[in-house]
Amino acid sequence: MSVTPPAGAATPYGTLPPASPPSQRKPLSLPRLADMHARGEKITMLTAYDATFAAMADAAGVECILVGDSVGMVCQGLHSTVGVTLETMRHHTECVFRGLHRVQGTAWLVADLPFGSYQTSREQALQSATVLMQAGAHMVKLEGGGWTTDTVRFLVERGIPVCAHLGLTPQTVHALGGYRVQGKGEAAAAVLREQALALQDAGAAMLVLEMVPATLAAELTDALQHCATIGIGAGRGTAGQVLVLHDMLGMNLGRMPKFVRNFMQDAGGIAQAMAAYVRAVKDGSFPDDRLHAW
Ligand code: KIV
Repeated sequence: MSVTPPAGAATPYGTLPPASPPSQRKPLSLPRLADMHARGEKITMLTAYDATFAAMADAAGVECILVGDSVGMVCQGLHSTVGVTLETMRHHTECVFRGLHRVQGTAWLVADLPFGSYQTSREQALQSATVLMQAGAHMVKLEGGGWTTDTVRFLVERGIPVCAHLGLTPQTVHALGGYRVQGKGEAAAAVLREQALALQDAGAAMLVLEMVPATLAAELTDALQHCATIGIGAGRGTAGQVLVLHDMLGMNLGRMPKFVRNFMQDAGGIAQAMAAYVRAVKDGSFPDDRLHAW
C-alpha cells in the first residue's frame, strides 16, 4: 500500500487537497523550524501513533508529528497517560518512524518521554531519550517546569533536541486535581513565565502550552524568541498548534475538550481533514478564541 499521494491525486482515502507549497516540502529540521518561527509562519503539529496515520499527516503537510503518550488513552484504553511505559513509546515511535521513512516523509518526529522515565535523574532522562532517539525520534518532549530545567539543559548539551510542556501536564493530572486550566491568576501566571524563560535558557527549542489562558500564551510566545510555543487549548497567539489526532477526527471515546474542532465534519476523508487542519492553523482560523472561556 502506498500512502504518498501527490496533491490532487485520488487516493484510497479520497482526493488529497494541495498541502504546503512544494518549496516547503523539504525535511523539517531545527533550523527550518526556527526559521518558520522567526518569520511568524504557524507551525503545525499533530499526534500519530502508527505508520499509516503518520504518513498521511506528513502528506497533508503537517510539519511536526508527535508520538504523544496520549497513545495510552487513545490506543490502549487507559484512563490517563500515567500508565504509559517507555517500551510502549519506543514501539509507537518506531512505527511512526517507519511510516515516515517508507514515504520519504519530511515531518519532524517528536516523541514523549513517559511518566517515570525521566524524573529520577538527568542520567535516567538521557537513557530514556536515547531509546526514543534510536527508535527514530528527532526530539523528545517532557512535562513540567522548575526541576526539569536542569534535565533539559543536560539533554540539549548532549545533542538531544527537547520540547518542553507547561500548563496542563497530563502526567501529573492527579497532583493537579484534574484536567484543569493552568496559569489563571497573576501568581500562577508568574510561575509559568519564570519556568518558560528558564526552559528556553536551558535550550528547549519548543514548548507545548496546554490549557492556559490565551492572553498568557500570547504573552509567553512574544517573550520566547528562541523557543516556539505550540498551543493546545491556549488560544491562537502561539507560534504553532497541536491536536490529538483522534480528537480532531471526532473519534474521542470520552468527553471532547471544548477547544477541539472536529475537522472530519466537513471533510471528505481523513486526508482532507488533516489538510484542513493545516490550512486552518496556517491562516489563523483555528483555534477560535471565542471557544475559550479561560
Ligand atoms: O500526549 C500528547 O498527545 C500530548 C499533546 C496533548 C500535546 O502531549
